[in-house]
Amino acid sequence: MTPTDHERSAVRVAVLGCGNVGSALVEMVLDPASAREIELSAGVRLEIAGIAVRRADARRWARPWFPADLVTQDAKGLVERDDVDVVVELIGGLDPARQLVEAALRAGKSVVTGNKALLASAGGELADLASANGVDLLYEAAVGSAIPVVRPLRESLAGERILRVIGIVNGTTNFILSKMAGEGATYEQSLLEAQRLGLAEADPSADVEGHDAAAKAAILASLAFGTDVVAADVHREGITSVAQADVRYAAQLGYVIKPLAVAERVGSGSTISVRVHPALLPASHPLASVNGAYNAVFIEGEHAGEMMLYGQGAGGRAAASAVLGDLVVAARHLRHGGLTPPASRRVALELVPVDDLESPFYLSMDVIDQPGVLAAVAGVMGEHGVSIRWMEQKGLGHEARLIFLTHRARGGAVAGTVARLRELAVVDRVGAVLRVAGTDGVGPSQDA
Ligand SMILES: NC(=O)c1ccc[n+]([C@@H]2O[C@H](COP(=O)([O-])OP(=O)(O)OC[C@H]3O[C@@H](n4cnc5c(N)ncnc54)[C@H](OP(=O)(O)O)[C@@H]3O)[C@@H](O)[C@H]2O)c1
Repeated sequence: MTPTDHERSAVRVAVLGCGNVGSALVEMVLDPASAREIELSAGVRLEIAGIAVRRADARRWARPWFPADLVTQDAKGLVERDDVDVVVELIGGLDPARQLVEAALRAGKSVVTGNKALLASAGGELADLASANGVDLLYEAAVGSAIPVVRPLRESLAGERILRVIGIVNGTTNFILSKMAGEGATYEQSLLEAQRLGLAEADPSADVEGHDAAAKAAILASLAFGTDVVAADVHREGITSVAQADVRYAAQLGYVIKPLAVAERVGSGSTISVRVHPALLPASHPLASVNGAYNAVFIEGEHAGEMMLYGQGAGGRAAASAVLGDLVVAARHLRHGGLTPPASRRVALELVPVDDLESPFYLSMDVIDQPGVLAAVAGVMGEHGVSIRWMEQKGLGHEARLIFLTHRARGGAVAGTVARLRELAVVDRVGAVLRVAGTDGVGPSQDA
């Protein structure tokens, strides 16, 4: 083959998985206008070599553009075919995605994936395998979907010392909390609406318990700090304890409650914290206006200062756009040379337990409305070194609701306070216990 023929020949792509994202990708690659655009701008022509699915599903065949002749149920066989140059993994989960990705990398084929679960459990090993075989492992869609986050952190900010990344990286929980804040809906009503709109699964636990965001937080932390963080390392709190009343009180105090994924350096910087939890953000914080199913990632660099990347964090077409971008990069490298530098993994950084981190806290609790109760509650807080910045009492008939904002306090001290408060006969219920982020916000303990 002459170099000219070689340059002109198409890069052949195996698409593993043809669900929400895979089908949108196939449609985009086959679209003549988009194909022409890619060929002109990137100097490569993409061709679908095969599409692996699990079920022989006749509904797919009904779509006029769908290349039924390219479909196979033998994903492994497709990966191993000699006429496949690049493998796109859009199956999701660990098994068989991991084996297929490894097989592709070992065969010297670049891989594009949007699989956060896989990257947050085996990203380091897969990056090593890609490096050893001299191929790309690209995963822009895995965090923030269409929002360019991975490449900016990996390449544009490669010379920057990242201090903190705070993301709203789960559209479902952001939709639920936004609806509670904007429309006064309850948590349950908001979740039902998310499910009706297809934004939440019938079993919403992956979103509302923070598992999805934890995987993304692990990927963000690994990229930002050049270390290996896996999902199991991430401290995780869901949004299920947040009640409509908390959202309302937060608004009265000038805050919004947002589902955050936080990765930050702690103290002198050889230790980090990676965690997922809802938190109060000042209404003036850029992330506070990220509403509905939108995502955003707020980055603080030592020299670059603050920046925010914002956009659609889910949806088949949005994710497929990010996948296609990676595919063009991989194809360009294949035809014109080059390799995306692997994510830096210079150092093993220590993770700080969340109990050792300091921030102001918001607490709400329902207590028996009788003399001396407030003093008893304040006494418990004082015993644990948790000092009150602001409090309000609201009457609830024979009970009263106490709402506190604390000064900066250690997470462990607040947890100890709450455990002790729950033992008091006069405390009926301790509600949400939320960190206050932003300005003086969720930050490292001075002595951590
Ligand atoms: N959806 C989003 O908005 C979004 C955004 C960013 C990233 N992602 C990531 O993109 C990936 C795909 O998500 P999705 O929403 O497109 O998932 P999906 O709709 O559930 O599609 C999964 C596809 O994988 C196929 N599949 C499952 N097991 C297989 C096997 N053993 N061999 C071959 N094919 C198999 C399924 O085949 P059948 O069709 O026959 O069942 C289906 O076509 C996931 O990693 C996800 O986290 C998704």
